[in-house]
Amino acid sequence: MVWDVVVIGGGAAGLFCAGLVGQQGKRVLVLDHAKKLGEKIRISGGGRCNFTNTQSTPEHFLSSNPKFAKSALARYRPQHFIDLMKRYRVGFHEKHRGQLFCDDSSQAIIDLLLNECRLGAVSIQHPVSVHQVVPTGSQWEIHTTQGPVRSQRVVIATGGLPVPAIGATGFALDLARHLHLNVIAPRPALVPLAFTSHGFDDLESLAGVSLPVMIRAGRVKHRYGEGQFSEDLLITHKGLSGPAVLQVSSYWEEGEPIQIQWVDRVRLQEWFDSPDQRTKTVEGLLTGLLPARLAKSFAESSALMGRRWAEVGKKDRLILVDLLTKWSVKPAGTLGWKKAEVMLGGVDTDALDSRSLMAKEHPGLYFIGECVDVTGHLGGHNFQWAWASAHACATSMG
Ligand code: FDA
Repeated sequence: MVWDVVVIGGGAAGLFCAGLVGQQGKRVLVLDHAKKLGEKIRISGGGRCNFTNTQSTPEHFLSSNPKFAKSALARYRPQHFIDLMKRYRVGFHEKHRGQLFCDDSSQAIIDLLLNECRLGAVSIQHPVSVHQVVPTGSQWEIHTTQGPVRSQRVVIATGGLPVPAIGATGFALDLARHLHLNVIAPRPALVPLAFTSHGFDDLESLAGVSLPVMIRAGRVKHRYGEGQFSEDLLITHKGLSGPAVLQVSSYWEEGEPIQIQWVDRVRLQEWFDSPDQRTKTVEGLLTGLLPARLAKSFAESSALMGRRWAEVGKKDRLILVDLLTKWSVKPAGTLGWKKAEVMLGGVDTDALDSRSLMAKEHPGLYFIGECVDVTGHLGGHNFQWAWASAHACATSMG
């Protein structure tokens, strides 16, 4: 039997695409090597899947070609997936800045996608490992552990490299290279940053401290655009994490510093100038602005611990202001694929048609979801890309 469409990868993009194509009346087969489908959906958003973001725009995505994702994102918007959620009566709520989460478990989204596949009479086989995808004239032959499968079209939806423990592989990237399609070097993104001791005298003692900051990647203008965020930061035993650091990690490059504004400059100046502060010690003064442990650490690292504010000279005051508003540190690295939420880079968008996600040089072969060089900010944008790219691919087959 020759399938109309074989989708390799039964995650967010793969299942969504398979359901849509199946509902067009096509014979669709999904192959996945995992025992459980949709594992990343299950673990996402702390188990409640941040499935989209109502404020999502093309500016929330990084790619070597920032225009590429526009077409797919414009044709499948957050509201489309919200409507689907409502049709299935899956409860959800907004948590922060347009981020939508399931009220209960992420499993509701996996069930929704599987039901959409059922409505399209999609066949799903797993666990099945795929070794190779080979063009044979106008068809494709897929070599699997359960023998060869033939199809008119093949959709690669095997995701990115983060969290290998739950079955992430570089299958899409290997296949693309094998077929002479360019691959933008993959890097872990939305990932905590590791630090050596510099920056803080005793990072360990600050673990658990969390506060809102303004953060940006070293260079003012990064190749992906402005890498500046106003979000919460969390100090951990290994370095820095929290939404602010995850966001900036996508813009950070090895060897570069990141810059943190711990306190807003205007607020800081007003605080320092207030007559009430004159008799306070520096650490006492800073405790009004920062968590106590961090305030103490800054007083120590600026050698002003125990000094009364009125006695601190202009030069030392300026040093302290710089420390609190332009704190710069070079991360030693990221915590890698184990801790990354998403992959930066992937199959080069230049090799793909932006309306259908089909490989220009290989008619009938498509790449969708995270394996493509389109990476979202934190906050539901990556699932929005999974839905939008799957929808673009599916509708192009209709
Ligand atoms: P996805 O990873 O979903 O699916 C790929 C599928 O391919 C898997 O089922 C896998 O088993 C299969 N596969 C891989 N290699 C294969 C092979 N060789 N043969 C056969 N099958 C193979 N995003 C977001 O927007 N909001 C959020 O809340 C979160 N939270 C989050 C938390 C954590 C811990 C992580 C790691 C990631 C997130 N993300 C996220 C990112 C989000 O999970 C991710 O962008 C999407 O799942 C990507 O969808 P895909 O379908 O492309 O890949």
